[in-house]
Amino acid sequence: MQIEDHLSELQVRIDRDAGGLADQVAAELRTAIRSGRLAGGVRLPASRELARDLGTSRGVVVEAYEQLVAEGFLVSRQGSGTRVADLHPAAPGGAVALESKAAPAVAYDLRVGVPDLSAFPRRAWLAAVRQVLRAMPHEALGYGDPGGVPQLRAELAAYLRRVRAAEVAPAQLVVTNGVAQGLRLVIGALARAGPIPLAVEDPHSVRTFALLEAAGAVRVPVPVDGEGIIVEELRRTPARAVMVTPAHQYPTGVVLSPRRRAELVAWAAEVDGMVLEDDYDAEFRYDRDPVGCLQALSPRRVVLLGSVSKALAPGLRLGWLVAPPPLAEAMRAARATSDLGSPVIDQHALAQFIASGAYDRQLRQLRRRYRARRDALTGALARWLPGAVVHGVAAGIQLYVELPPGHDEAATVEAALERGVAVEGVAPLRQAWPGPPALVLGFARLPEHRLTEAVRLLAEATSGR
Ligand SMILES: Cc1ncc(COP(=O)(O)O)c(C=O)c1O
Repeated sequence: MQIEDHLSELQVRIDRDAGGLADQVAAELRTAIRSGRLAGGVRLPASRELARDLGTSRGVVVEAYEQLVAEGFLVSRQGSGTRVADLHPAAPGGAVALESKAAPAVAYDLRVGVPDLSAFPRRAWLAAVRQVLRAMPHEALGYGDPGGVPQLRAELAAYLRRVRAAEVAPAQLVVTNGVAQGLRLVIGALARAGPIPLAVEDPHSVRTFALLEAAGAVRVPVPVDGEGIIVEELRRTPARAVMVTPAHQYPTGVVLSPRRRAELVAWAAEVDGMVLEDDYDAEFRYDRDPVGCLQALSPRRVVLLGSVSKALAPGLRLGWLVAPPPLAEAMRAARATSDLGSPVIDQHALAQFIASGAYDRQLRQLRRRYRARRDALTGALARWLPGAVVHGVAAGIQLYVELPPGHDEAATVEAALERGVAVEGVAPLRQAWPGPPALVLGFARLPEHRLTEAVRLLAEATSGR
């Protein structure tokens, strides 16, 4: 940044007739730093420049700067000038901590929801972006189709037919900014006339609670057992729409059984309702044959929602929804009247990334990596916490671990954190139906030896509780 920019931002006001000029300058800067108007790291103008701007001698500014360096508000280094000290260090990596409260030091992060971000295929993504920018005509940089650029819709439809056995033509597919936006759009359409009851699995991802409510849904919890959502209980609710995670129920890890799948689509037909299928981590299956999506059983009654958040990175905000044609068209129109669609360069890059085979390669590599981590975690649990019952090992990037009898879930979470191990309890995800004390352990982000150490510390935390 140019020094002149900073001069105009400084807005230092002094009274030249009042005397004590250095103190005045120091006081003005101190106030600006304390209030955050001058943020940590900002470079201040050279003393000569500021003095000229203020109409004072350079000595006045030098004295003010020296005073503030002594007080710790400024940092002065040979060659890099004078900068505002970092009084409020940001979250690591500059990330805005959206979900964490005042966080104790975390050495082993087993919280769920984020994949191994270090596995993002930077080089292959860059190659895709390069290729796109080289080949893209100028016209393609205008507003794209609000439902998604045709190339990406075609690639995604083919991918979902191949990998998820979905029944989908490109016209039924709308590109979204992740599952989150897909849910918002679909629920928004269903709740046009006012809030609707939406059945949700209990327990369920707490991250979506606020989103569902904001979209117009009143959550109606339905319990989950070893076969997935209990459709008999669903029938007792007034809901005509349900949101499920059939590939790998979040958080219990149950795969919806064939019997329940059939019951669920039968229920949807009976009530003239809709099923929202959140396919959030379906690509990661380890020991079992791939389970096709629910959508193929009833394309007229199921909306399939997915994204690249787990396979690439949540920060890309790229996803899709597959809906029956009239609803897909309504979703496309909804994007036209809300945000005019997703960024076109990113969409073309993803289309190119899939077409080149890089997406399949990424998935193969991730499956290998995550399988090794899952094995390390299950092995360590068997060794250090033999009384725990582990579920959901066949798929996904988290395990559901029922604590040995007599253990207090919240106390375990707290004691683990005291040892630097961040884990999530299941109680906050339960809405109406009780269940045993349990933890969800995300294993995507830690290498094997660190997972083993984390479980050893976790076992220490549970001992005597
Ligand atoms: C179960 C579940 N579904 C959906 C989402 C949102 O995913 P996306 O990044 O695709 O919007 C999350 C986010 O953590 C999740 O946990």
